[in-house]
Amino acid sequence: MITLTQAACDVLAAASPAEKIALSHRFAAAWRDGAIDEIGTARPSERPARPAKPELKHPHEMPKRRGAGSLANRIALLHAIAHIELNAIDLAWDLIARFATPELPRAFYDDWITVADQEATHHALLAERLAALGAAYGDLPAHDGLWQAAQATAHDLLARLAIVPLVLEARGLDVTPDMIEKLRRQGDAASVAVLEMIYRDEVGHVAAGQRWFRWDCARRGLDPVAAYRDLVRRYHGGGLKPPFNRAAREQAGFAAAFYENV
Ligand SMILES: [Fe+2]
Ligand SMILES: [Fe+2]
Repeated sequence: MITLTQAACDVLAAASPAEKIALSHRFAAAWRDGAIDEIGTARPSERPARPAKPELKHPHEMPKRRGAGSLANRIALLHAIAHIELNAIDLAWDLIARFATPELPRAFYDDWITVADQEATHHALLAERLAALGAAYGDLPAHDGLWQAAQATAHDLLARLAIVPLVLEARGLDVTPDMIEKLRRQGDAASVAVLEMIYRDEVGHVAAGQRWFRWDCARRGLDPVAAYRDLVRRYHGGGLKPPFNRAAREQAGFAAAFYENV
């Protein structure tokens, strides 16, 4: 049977979203069933394979969204989230394959495989919503900011946990309620349902992030709050953007002492 790190590398090497999704679900089920029981030593390449479209742009070159409330605007919003979720599939598998060591407990892999499995569902549901609106993932340009953050933290598990789940996914908790409200006002109940499910799952992803961040700090003898604030200053230029969704962050076990006034 395939090792876990090889399975992760296979998802990362798959270019088509449909294949990434199918493999993510298959490998997550195999892990849960005990059919994958070895971690192995496979390491991912620097960048995952991606489909030819969307075209990736620098975050500053992204076209501005216009015409609030229009169908085009709604498609742009769902497309942007679909892109984040596709990145999130790769980010979860990359975390597993890049940082796998014999010292990491099984619960570490359990958590991030669950995250990968859920991200695959998130992307699939958004691709369905885009199709229902006459669009498809790849129709619009997308930005490469998430993978840039992954590459900047590829050398250090603690930095990766600080920036990916505890800055970027936590930011998702801050901005999603407004997006849900916007879609609700437009009468798009199906998209609202998808975003509500994503929001619930993402609380769990931030919870996993802070759990393993604290675990890794304890292992290194670091104070988690000080370590987080230091890593954010080092790897996330410009600091953190309020307002924060304190209730959702609290639900994820992510205390305000970490992120206020960094
Ligand atoms: Fe997600
Ligand atoms: Fe997530």
